[in-house]
Amino acid sequence: MCGIIGYKGKEAFPVLIESLKRLEYRGYDSYGFATVHSGELHIFKNTGKISESNMLEGLPGNTGIAHTRWATHGNVNKTNAHPHIDCEKRIAVVHNGIIENYQELKNKLLKKGHVFNSETDTEIIPHLIEENIKYGFEEAVKKTVSQLKGRYAIVALERDTGKMVAVRRGSPLIVGVKDKEVFVASDIPAFLNYTNNVMYLDDNEMIVLDGENKFYSLLTGEEVKKRLITIDWDAEQAEKGKYPHFMIKEIMEQKETIMRAINQDDKEIEKIANKINNAFGTFFTGCGTAGKVCFAGEYIFSRIANKHINYVVASEFPNYKHFLTDKTLLIAISQSGETADVLEAIETAKKRGVKVVSLVNVAGSTIDRYSDHSFNIKAGPEKAVASTKATTAQLALVILLAHAVAGKLQEGKMLLMETASKVNDMLNPRYEERIKKLAEKIHKQPNIYIIGRSLNYPIALEAAIKIQEVSYIHAEGFAGGELKHGPIALIEKGVPCIVLAANDETKDDIIANAMEIKSRGGYIIGVSPENNEVFDYWLKVPDVGVASPIVNIIPVQILAYHLAVLRGYDPDYPRNLAKSVTVK
Ligand code: F6R
Repeated sequence: MCGIIGYKGKEAFPVLIESLKRLEYRGYDSYGFATVHSGELHIFKNTGKISESNMLEGLPGNTGIAHTRWATHGNVNKTNAHPHIDCEKRIAVVHNGIIENYQELKNKLLKKGHVFNSETDTEIIPHLIEENIKYGFEEAVKKTVSQLKGRYAIVALERDTGKMVAVRRGSPLIVGVKDKEVFVASDIPAFLNYTNNVMYLDDNEMIVLDGENKFYSLLTGEEVKKRLITIDWDAEQAEKGKYPHFMIKEIMEQKETIMRAINQDDKEIEKIANKINNAFGTFFTGCGTAGKVCFAGEYIFSRIANKHINYVVASEFPNYKHFLTDKTLLIAISQSGETADVLEAIETAKKRGVKVVSLVNVAGSTIDRYSDHSFNIKAGPEKAVASTKATTAQLALVILLAHAVAGKLQEGKMLLMETASKVNDMLNPRYEERIKKLAEKIHKQPNIYIIGRSLNYPIALEAAIKIQEVSYIHAEGFAGGELKHGPIALIEKGVPCIVLAANDETKDDIIANAMEIKSRGGYIIGVSPENNEVFDYWLKVPDVGVASPIVNIIPVQILAYHLAVLRGYDPDYPRNLAKSVTVK
C-alpha cells in the first residue's frame, strides 16, 4: 500500500528511481520525487508506473524522498501523487497509510488560510508541519504526528536544512545504512541493491536523517539505540532474472522453497507443538491467501493430529475476543509480516493475555517482532502481488507443525522432503506448456469454478483468488458438496470447472461432484494424481498424501499466470491491489 523512500548520500535521483522501482509492487498508479538542492525543493510527479516511465531529466541534490502510490484518498492523477508540500514549498512529505482525522484537521487548516491542491489525506501533513515550524523541523514533525489518527509512515523533507524526519505509526519503515549513505523505506528490497545492513523503526519512533541519524521515541522523547541487523537476502533474489515476470519466477522457485521452509530447528517446532497441545483453544489467523492457508491448517491439524484448531480471518478476529483467555494460543500467518488486519488481530489477542506464534516471510517485520515466537518460512523476497511460493512454504510449515503436534515430526519431515522433490520434478517446461495450452483453451471464458473437499476445499478458495486477482476472470471456489445447494445453477455448456481430486477418502465424492457438473455441460479440469474418465483435461500432480494442498495449488498458480498473460494483463501488477496491505 504505497511505497515510500528517503535517501541521503550521493546523487539522490538515480538511487531514488532504482529504489522506487523495487517498491513498485506496493502501489503503481502514480509516483513522485522531491530533492533538495541549493536551498530549493525540486519536485517531479507523474501517473502510471515508474518502471514504464522514460523520464530522462533528473532532479539535482544528494537528499530526496520518493513515493509510489496505491490510491486511497482521491483519484489517480498528478496532483494527488506524492510528495505533497506546504504553502511555502518548504516541506515535502511522502506518506503510506491513512490519516483517519484528516478532514477535521484540513478544515482547521483551511480556516487558517492554508491552500490545498489535492484530494489526499496526506496534504494536511506538510501544512501542519508548516504551522509548527517555529519550534524547529523535528519538533514540528513531532507536534504534527501527535495530532494524526490512523496507521501510517511518513518521511518529511525540509528545504532549508536538507534534513529528513521519518516516523512510523503502524506502517512499516526500515532504515538501511552503507558508509555515509542512509536509506529509509517501506520495505527492504528498496535498498537491497545498495545494502543489507538494516535497522527497524518500531511504532511511535522517528529517525532524524541529518548525518547523525538518531532514533527517538515519540512517547518519551528519549533517544533509542538500535541494533544493526544484516539481512541474508541478496539483491538478485529480488530481481526477475531470466523470467518475464516475478510471478512465474516465484512459482518456479517452489522447486527449492518448500525444502527451505521445513529447514527449521526441531526443538523450536517441538516447543510450539507443546504449546498447541497445552493451549485451551488455538486460533489460526491471516488474510487473503494466507487466510486460506490458515483455513487449510484447520483441516490439516484435524487430519494429521486429530486436533481442533479454529480458523478466523484476521479482519474478523477482534469479533472473537470474548473467546480469548490467557490459555489461548494465536498462530498468525503473514508473508509480509505487516498486514494491518493481522496486526490488529494480534493486538486484540495480546490484550487478553493470548500468546502469539507467527509464520512470516520477512525477518524483522512487525508481526515477526510482535509475536512471542516467530518462524521464518524462508521463501525469500516475494515481489509479485499474487502470493505463490510463500503460500506453499506456509502450507509446508503448517503440515510440519501438525505432525509435531501428533508426535510425528520426523515422519512429517520425510513426507515434506518427498513433496519438495516431487514439486522439483513437476515444475518442468513440459508441465508449464501443458498448462499454457489449457489457458489458451479457456482464457476467454467469463467464469471459472473450482471445487475441492476437506484439505482441498480451502485450496479451491485459494485457487479462485489466484485466478481472479491476475486474470480478472470471475472465479469461485466451493466445497464439492455445496454445488448442488445452489451454485450448480451457474453451470452451463463449456464452463470450466477445476476439480481438485486428491487421492484420499474424499476422492469418490469429489469425482461424483465432477460428474454432476459434467452432466450439466461443464468442462472438467482434473487436478489429480490419476486420470479419470470425467476429466476433459487432466493436470497430473504427484500423490503426496496429506501434503496434497501444496501440489494442488501449483498448477492453478501456473494457469492463473498464463490466463493473465494471454488476456494481456501484467500478472505482477494486478489492478487495485498491493502487495502489503497496511490499511484496515
Ligand atoms: C493474494 C495475496 C493476498 C495476501 C494477503 C495477506 O495472492 O497475496 O491475499 O495473502 O494480502 O498478505 P500477507 O501474507 O502479507 O499478510
